[in-house]
Amino acid sequence: MDGHVGTPTSRIDGRAKVTGAAKYAGEFKADGLVYGFAVSATIARGRIRRVDTSAALRVKGVLDVLTHQNRPQMADNDEAWRDEVAPERGSPFRPLYDDAVKFSGQPVALVLAEDWETARFAASLVRVEYQEEAFATDLHAKRDEAFVVQKSERPRGDASKALSGAAIRHEAEYFIPTEHHNPMEPFASTAIWEANGRLTVYEKTQGVQNVHRYLCSVFRKKADDLRVVSPYVGGAFGSALRPQYQGVLAVLGALALKRPVRVVLTRQQMYGLGHRPATIERVGLAAKADGTIDAITHEAIAETSQFEEFSRNDTGWAGLLYASANSKFDHKLVSLDVATPCDMRAPGAATGVYALESAMDELAVALKLDPIELRLRCYSDRDQNEDIPYTSKQLRECYRQGAEAFGWARREPEPRSMRDGHELVGWGMASGVWEALQMPAGARIVLTANGHAEVSCAASDIGTGTYTVVAQVAADALGLPLDNLSVKLADSTLPQAPVEGGSWMAASAAHAVLGTAQEIRNELLNLAKAMPRSPLANAGPDNVILTDGKLADKRDLTRAVSITDAMRHGMVERIEKEKVNHFADDTSHARNAHSAIFAEVKIDEQLGVVRVTRVVSAVAAGRIINPKTARSQILGGVVWGIGMALHEETLFDHRFGRIMNPNIAEYHVPTNADVYDIDVIFVEEKDELINSLGVKGLGEIGIVGVAAAIANAVYHATGKRVRDLPITLDKLLN
Ligand code: MOS
Repeated sequence: MDGHVGTPTSRIDGRAKVTGAAKYAGEFKADGLVYGFAVSATIARGRIRRVDTSAALRVKGVLDVLTHQNRPQMADNDEAWRDEVAPERGSPFRPLYDDAVKFSGQPVALVLAEDWETARFAASLVRVEYQEEAFATDLHAKRDEAFVVQKSERPRGDASKALSGAAIRHEAEYFIPTEHHNPMEPFASTAIWEANGRLTVYEKTQGVQNVHRYLCSVFRKKADDLRVVSPYVGGAFGSALRPQYQGVLAVLGALALKRPVRVVLTRQQMYGLGHRPATIERVGLAAKADGTIDAITHEAIAETSQFEEFSRNDTGWAGLLYASANSKFDHKLVSLDVATPCDMRAPGAATGVYALESAMDELAVALKLDPIELRLRCYSDRDQNEDIPYTSKQLRECYRQGAEAFGWARREPEPRSMRDGHELVGWGMASGVWEALQMPAGARIVLTANGHAEVSCAASDIGTGTYTVVAQVAADALGLPLDNLSVKLADSTLPQAPVEGGSWMAASAAHAVLGTAQEIRNELLNLAKAMPRSPLANAGPDNVILTDGKLADKRDLTRAVSITDAMRHGMVERIEKEKVNHFADDTSHARNAHSAIFAEVKIDEQLGVVRVTRVVSAVAAGRIINPKTARSQILGGVVWGIGMALHEETLFDHRFGRIMNPNIAEYHVPTNADVYDIDVIFVEEKDELINSLGVKGLGEIGIVGVAAAIANAVYHATGKRVRDLPITLDKLLN
């Protein structure tokens, strides 16, 4: 290997991005492009009685207004609308399908015009009459109607009994409000209609093949007659895992007009898409006086829509993090008249671990134990939910290295005991855990005799660095300099890839590349053996490697043939290979990434203003392919954790079932002024079991635990425990 893997490497797509050469879904042009603008429902539930489009149609430049009454045909069954990451249960949303209104902000008409401004203006003239029905959008008001969803974590022992008889016990309820993703790039689709009826759809998505299958089944298109392309994505964070409605609208427009159509959602309309569900979390912890844990109970009550059951694992994380003989986890959902929630970075863990790690801090206070010490006393070397060991778990080392970098030993344990001028100082910490998943994926490699290779795969790069990681792995596997590699991603016609999510793409794509590179190597070996007096005449495929532009004997690198010579001698201009990699199906070990987060807050005593002045995140996520982009991922996760702790909150007016702050002026996210020092440590973690590179993947682990570390720091600074996020200053001054 030539060592690209493990070396901090700048994004190979960085130049295209900063020069504007990188094109996003809403930027592709075509002759005769039509602009679509969606009309959004203003009620939360009911029926459309009448849509009056006459005023809109009179506007010069308006071509048509589509509604459920005049749209082109779409599939009429749930199966056809169910994409690969849709909830298993429910009836997926169908835009412009019929007269039903299921949530405020749902599209009810599409105005098609010669330019965007005209479409947007005409959309304001569309009059919709509704028959309103009773609705509910408040999780708290409906919590008694929560129903149980079955999850895999089995109860252990008798947690209720252990809890009631415990020497030291902590029970409390925590709350995470609805949050929206707010990626910088708006949701957009450009559907290019061709005379032969074929369509190319430029789409903002985390999975082109998911969108491809979905649009083919919704519009009954043959696979070859539709192509989905998404070369660059300006952030998504889970919001583009499922196909969103603007893609269906763009195709509807293109089919109706037989012209190319672009639909871009406004920021406000993006609040009608999926979101992190508001979740109530009840955690109970029972401890012996020595700080070992005897019982953990965790109940989550989350919102879902009226038409789909979206749920994620909020509660099972305790079974991974802390040894406890007794435990019980309950997952419940409440159906509300909102868009179906969806994955948002570390779904279930960002929320569930916030509650668990806040509760652990409260237990440490009750036990008069240092919070790290408590976590070490109940450290679990096994996944107790499945009763299996980990492929690797360097969480202890995360605690140690994180604490050292932070200076934790200098912490005064008493709340309100540290200050800096007029500010109270608080230090808090928390653990993080996420899954290290890996999925089947394929790659195609085309090697040309000039020593250049093109690697392609349908995977998306949603800003995480997939282009670069693929190039690094390929450069090492093929023994070529990084500059000789080009990478093509996110076209549905390329080799198979899962949606980019779950932090599984680095491991999945890397091993797809490795598998295909082996095929290239084997082919080169055949060519090398055919050369006169070949130094590799007796070498088997596993005895040779590609390095430095040559195929060489592993044990004696001087016995080598240059790639170019081998190909020229065999009169081969290009070698093309494609292979799908499947990971061994091994359930004997748990696969997880871990972290320890340390946060310092400074709080103005009179004003309650909280500043997160320092964060140290120590992450153990196996081998880090690209420490530079990996660090960016963790930085982003920490910044988001600051937002989760202090700023983010989608506010509903429950009298109307509408969101009151659907914009990034009133939906607060951290800006540069809110972000101070963030230190990212990658703890060395050799993992020989998980996969051949020892890669776990990261991205989502970056946010897990951050809000808890900050909330715990706020308690340490003020002596005030705020259990409902975000921790706004009014809650501190009360
Ligand atoms: Mo991530 S929430 O799986 O895009």
